Amino acid sequence: MTILVTGGAGFIGSNFVHYWVAHHPEDRIIVLDKLTYAGNLRNLESVANKIRFVKGDICDHELVFSLVKDVDRIVHFAAESHNDRAAMDPESFLRTNIFGTYNLLDAARQHQIKRFHHVSTDEVFGHLPLDGGSFNEQSLYAPRSIYPASKAASDHFVRAFYHTHGLPITISNCSNNYGPYHFPEKIIPLFICNLREGKKVPVYGDGLYVRDWIHVEDHCRGIEAILLKGRVGETYCLGGKESEISNLELTKKLLALTDRDESFIEYVKDRPGHDRRYSIDYSKAQRELGWEPTIGIDEGLKNTVDWYANHQAWVDEVRSGAYQDYYEKQYVTR
Ligand code: NAD
Ligand code: TYD
Repeated sequence: MTILVTGGAGFIGSNFVHYWVAHHPEDRIIVLDKLTYAGNLRNLESVANKIRFVKGDICDHELVFSLVKDVDRIVHFAAESHNDRAAMDPESFLRTNIFGTYNLLDAARQHQIKRFHHVSTDEVFGHLPLDGGSFNEQSLYAPRSIYPASKAASDHFVRAFYHTHGLPITISNCSNNYGPYHFPEKIIPLFICNLREGKKVPVYGDGLYVRDWIHVEDHCRGIEAILLKGRVGETYCLGGKESEISNLELTKKLLALTDRDESFIEYVKDRPGHDRRYSIDYSKAQRELGWEPTIGIDEGLKNTVDWYANHQAWVDEVRSGAYQDYYEKQYVTR
């Protein structure tokens, strides 16, 4: 079995590659990644001799068609993924998330691949009030900002290829991930790195926004369960293990884990159109796939803080920007 993993040098994609290499060593993995600011080849360093890495853009028709012809499955992670960047540069979200997904679907259809798994987000469903409710597979699409709007469009194209061409697709809509190799622009790795460096942490608005945190390893196991047991054409919602907390509660946990006090909290201007709360009901995945998350927030945050403490060289390269030279050193100037 040959699997094309798009965006495999990013946060979740690289964790998925590590997971798949460890659990399915018989499979061949090709990673296609453009190495935007979010892609870091260091994330794949320890599996470099077990995979094939191709630097390239999912929007590149010729490249994608030539790679997909030798592939059985595609697991599609590549995306522009950060809400705070979307207002400044919406076009790259449209281009990669919508057109790039379409390009992959078209190649997958022409080469009749066995499964196209699309990795999506719960943010396509909009947001929830603080006092209750959870998203599930029947939730209506109601994205409120550019990143989720582009992911929502990509989800629709994936389903359209299933209904129009019979392409064997599956989709997962997952809540907020955290864990190793997370780029420190997202709240958990940013706050861990700042606190370790003795810097303050910027809490947006009132800090009472709620996220349903899932450890990335649970997400990778969820995708594996969908690939192995999921029904073609279906969507599965994946969420964390009792890990719905406000940003302020999360910040206080990180302060405790890094031996800092509340004077390190800095309340800053709110994000425009900030989604109040996300929450996932994952009972369909539990029922049909036998999947459920296993890593609670306290265990997961402790592991994550330890991972950052034990990977200072990775953090230093990311913080300085030196990680972006690593591809040239590894693949070009050899
Ligand atoms: P990320 O930003 O860390 O990684 C994205 C990767 O895609 C990077 O390696 C980047 O170089 C690559 N990429 C970007 N544009 C590309 C292009 N045009 N061609 C080829 N490669 C390109 O993102 P992530 O957090 O790992 O998210 C991965 C996927 O999971 C995304 O589709 C995202 O929507 C989805 N998702 C993320 C979360 C989360 O909490 N991070 C939650 C649910 C779903
Ligand atoms: P983020 O990690 O950007 O993920 P998403 O936008 O996909 O949910 O943000 C998670 C929450 O943390 C969100 O409510 C915004 C908030 N946040 C802060 O308060 N400060 C920060 O510096 C960042 C990056 C996020």
